[in-house]
Amino acid sequence: MKILVLGSGGREHALCWKLKQSPRVTAVFCAPGNGGIAEVATCVPHKISEHDALVAFAKSEGIGLTVVGPDDALAAGIVDRFQSESLRVFGPTQSAARLESSKVFAKEFMFRHGIPTAASGQFSSAQEARAFAAKMNTPIVVKASGLALGKGVIIAATHAEADAAIREIMEERKFGDAGAEVVIEEFLEGEECSIHALVDGRSFLLFPSAQDHKRALDGDQGLNTGGMGTFSPADKVLPPALEQRVRVEVLERFVAGARADGLDFRGMLFPGLMITKDGPKVLEFNCRFGDPETQVLLTRLEIDLVDLLEATIDQRLDAVSARWKPEAAVCVIMASGGYPGAYAGGKTITGLEKADARVFHAGTKKDGDAFVTAGGRVLGVTALAPTLAQARDRAYLAVKQITFDGAQYRTDIGAKGL
Ligand code: AMP
Ligand code: GLY
Repeated sequence: MKILVLGSGGREHALCWKLKQSPRVTAVFCAPGNGGIAEVATCVPHKISEHDALVAFAKSEGIGLTVVGPDDALAAGIVDRFQSESLRVFGPTQSAARLESSKVFAKEFMFRHGIPTAASGQFSSAQEARAFAAKMNTPIVVKASGLALGKGVIIAATHAEADAAIREIMEERKFGDAGAEVVIEEFLEGEECSIHALVDGRSFLLFPSAQDHKRALDGDQGLNTGGMGTFSPADKVLPPALEQRVRVEVLERFVAGARADGLDFRGMLFPGLMITKDGPKVLEFNCRFGDPETQVLLTRLEIDLVDLLEATIDQRLDAVSARWKPEAAVCVIMASGGYPGAYAGGKTITGLEKADARVFHAGTKKDGDAFVTAGGRVLGVTALAPTLAQARDRAYLAVKQITFDGAQYRTDIGAKGL
């Protein structure tokens, strides 16, 4: 079978790398891909927004399965388009992906089906949003409802800051139409945890836990980023008893709720959780593989990913099980200096061949024989070892072998899991 992966980040590199190992796969293509992905897949120069070109490519190449990486492609209805052309595709439809692309829709779904989440109000009027926020205790969380590249969540320390956030999001439209509606939410205290589960509309298959590091700097300081590193398993933050609560209170209720609502969700569900003193609460639903969580999860997956993706599409998840390496995996992101703010590209990357770890590429391209930087997050240096401490040591040893001008990375990835 020929596979097409859509996207260009570290997540897509990990997907291509894993899918290529399947004995059932004869070729892997990636659109548009990146410098490192070109080492394991054939990159196709179409943007994920070019639906006509992607459909034409999938048909002419005889692609047997297309796997969608990013949220914006799902929100734009790429899955519906492929399905309407009778092309096999992994990912939720546009209407099911609203669970990620509309936080208002997701909150209403969670309240309707008893899924634990922060108390909140949802508004399309700035005046009503302000009146609601005025009655809340601080800090107050103000969220643009739509997709905003992970930047649409503001934690307001005071009521004045909450008012300003509502003005920027709803009236000044800082995040464009993503700010037509807002969620005003109570602030939850606890540790965050990333959960992934394949969901086929009838049942689900839970992946091991992982923890992301969203802030740019050590000690969870600095600005929010796409994710600066991750590790799995994260069983200190999600021990077995809490994982069981996630199964029952989040995933079972999700599957039953989607059925009751007539929502055909088939794909990867990635709830971002806050583990509070009252138990796990859902911060958001993502409807795709996490980035960088995918780098550690697929490094630990022992079995054929194609089988799992097909079982999801064909609603056979109850008949399959996954096996995971018992080792721990750590992924340290090396980013361009300045990220998540402005940064320069075109810096030559050296030492990749010396790194004793799996290096997934995010923002890289080939320049002659060398790789150069071409994005904010550049590399995901991923190591597997018997213990989390050893996996951290291995990942950081490898990071020290790799250089590019201005490289920045956190030195505390996985430290909280020790
Ligand atoms: P979201 O996109 O909704 O997951 O929010 C992005 C980030 O904002 C999360 O990963 C948390 O770090 C933080 N966050 C979101 N909602 C809350 C909340 N209710 N309480 C505390 N932190 C939150
Ligand atoms: N690592 C967080 C995300 O993929 O959204």
